[in-house]
Amino acid sequence: MLFTCAPKFRLPSSSLLVFRRYHHVPGTSEVSAWMPEAAGFGGVRDRSGLQDFSVGRAESFWAAAARHRLSWIRPFRTVQDCDFSRGHITWFGGGRLNVSVNCLDRHVQNSPERVALIWERDEPGSEVKVTYRQLLEMTCRLGNLLRRRGVKRGGCVTIYMPPCPLAVAAMLACARIGAAHNVVFAGFSAEALAERIRDAQSSTVITVNQGVRGGKVIELKKTVDTAVQSCPSVQQVLVAMRTENPVVMTARDVAMEEEMLLEDTVCEPAAMDSEDTLFLLYTSGSTGKPKGLVHTQAGYLLYASLTHRYVFDYHDGDVFGCVADIGWITGHSYSVYGPLANGATTVLFESTPVYPDPGRYWEMVQRLQINQFYGAPTAIRLLLKYGDQWVHKYDRSSLKTLGSVGEPINTEAWEWYHRVVGGGRCPVVDTWWQTETGGICIAPRPSEPEAEIIPGMAMRPFFGIKPALMDSEGKELTSNNTSGALCIAQPWPGMARTIFNDHQRFIDTYCRPYPGYFFTGDGAYRSEEGYYQITGRLDDVINVSGHRIGTAEIEDVLNQCPAVAESAAIGYSHDIKGQGVYAFVVLKTSVDIQEGALSQQLKNMVAKGIAKYACPDCIQIVQRLPKTRSGKIMRRVLRKVVECDLDGLGDLSTLDDPAAVQEAIKGHCDLCRKEQVQ
Ligand code: WT7
Repeated sequence: MLFTCAPKFRLPSSSLLVFRRYHHVPGTSEVSAWMPEAAGFGGVRDRSGLQDFSVGRAESFWAAAARHRLSWIRPFRTVQDCDFSRGHITWFGGGRLNVSVNCLDRHVQNSPERVALIWERDEPGSEVKVTYRQLLEMTCRLGNLLRRRGVKRGGCVTIYMPPCPLAVAAMLACARIGAAHNVVFAGFSAEALAERIRDAQSSTVITVNQGVRGGKVIELKKTVDTAVQSCPSVQQVLVAMRTENPVVMTARDVAMEEEMLLEDTVCEPAAMDSEDTLFLLYTSGSTGKPKGLVHTQAGYLLYASLTHRYVFDYHDGDVFGCVADIGWITGHSYSVYGPLANGATTVLFESTPVYPDPGRYWEMVQRLQINQFYGAPTAIRLLLKYGDQWVHKYDRSSLKTLGSVGEPINTEAWEWYHRVVGGGRCPVVDTWWQTETGGICIAPRPSEPEAEIIPGMAMRPFFGIKPALMDSEGKELTSNNTSGALCIAQPWPGMARTIFNDHQRFIDTYCRPYPGYFFTGDGAYRSEEGYYQITGRLDDVINVSGHRIGTAEIEDVLNQCPAVAESAAIGYSHDIKGQGVYAFVVLKTSVDIQEGALSQQLKNMVAKGIAKYACPDCIQIVQRLPKTRSGKIMRRVLRKVVECDLDGLGDLSTLDDPAAVQEAIKGHCDLCRKEQVQ
């Protein structure tokens, strides 16, 4: 079914789930036994005291954590120096370290043969294990190759690869030599890739000959070839071989694995300042231009490591299975940096949840003995529809914690995940965060892990996080049982520092809307008990299957079609994807075109201009768009039309031409009817 009517905002069900894995013994010794960093925190008696300490005495908290969890080349002199009004954020000033040393060398010293990566390749049963020693060796060879080929400290390397050990080695090799990486999700089109390479001013791109996903071969090198045609900055493309099929290599291309073999296995790590750039990662905002968010070295790594440890209750020796792609922030923080900083065994998932059948995840859990499984609600909803038998077929007794990320998880999916997948034994943590926050900010754990978890709620702020809800006048709401714009009231080490080459946009987007606070772009509800529930984006950003896309980005592509005068892309509630894209299109008066063909043409344009996931499910041609008298498209109204929620149309007093709404409603009903008949 394509269209669903909007589920009304629902409070979580009253069935509170209480997990008592920890036996609560009050007293400082117990807190520090659980969190060694807390040993010096005088007066902290229990975990909620720890939460208060982490916010109230943030500098002491973060300094202790940074000393305890990271290996420093030179100790930091200041803990933080932040001023939200200027968008100025500095953590651990004066300190020097190397992220790859923190993720590799120190574990190689203690347990070189521990498995760092399990590469869960597309074909089930063909996984490849890479030890810490091997990963360090790969990273060093690649670091030396990059250095020899002219990549400098401060440069930027674009990585366009599926999840695989060489992609992780590429990220860590950049970190080793002090270059920034810019991983672009390998599902993005050539145009989208080119835009990100140009913006990041990369001279080097790393890719694979072909990708393999869901039994299909994907021509990644060809996509890179097309992209770099419009990227004058690119001097070389390093190509690794994922499959045995040869691809055309030009003078600009480098056979990566062959050249790596010629390199030394020792590579001197660069001593990086805490605030040097570790990576850029592009994400969508309210305009057509994606934002290259900048994360730096020490604060990011510390935050990824601490959240990985305490949100998921990760313990030494656990196998951590985050199934996100490395092209998103989830893959950066919880497939790569968090787990590797903690010496974990982390899974790199190359496949899809339904390949070769809907039992894939659970067959993998059984085969790899995964202890923490971290996935997206969209996949859970999809698998739920296939039925419990796909889960029951496999032994999931290794599982200890289940995580959810990327979009709100509805109560039905949450309960299925908990009851069927986890057999009712495993806490489910609904984790709220963003590319901008670097790591998890709100999740049921860790401040009171022995307390209740409410289905479908992110609930509690992480250590050091102070959420705030703001009203429409910009004032902070202090009471409970209230909703508002979600802000974070004080800096934390994992937050993004700027937008690459556009600091003003960083200030305008995150710091200006509520002076003194970091604005997340999301709305949230705070319950009577003080728990948070995310209610969705407040800006023109859509979340399709947990992937972010700006309405303006889609409209920019649609408007490039010569037949289109203007367009409005809307996110509407979708059964599986969370949100789907629906586009209203106004044609130029002179065009006489067959609707079905045009619609297909427009969808192809979006796939080519951005990515397949951003394609509208449906395109509705209209004579005009509902606009305010000042000419702003009323997307809010169009969304209600698409969700068949005519009672929810809201205030139409600013509408310029009421007939535009009537036309949208009628056209939408016709389309729905057609859809049902088919
Ligand atoms: C946006 C961030 C977080 C890594 C993956 C997405 C939405 C994220 C949740 C959640 C409700 C969520 C928000 C946020 N979101 N997690 N647990 N409950 N909404 O990162 O691409 O930067 O997207 O995803 O709207 O702002 P991203």
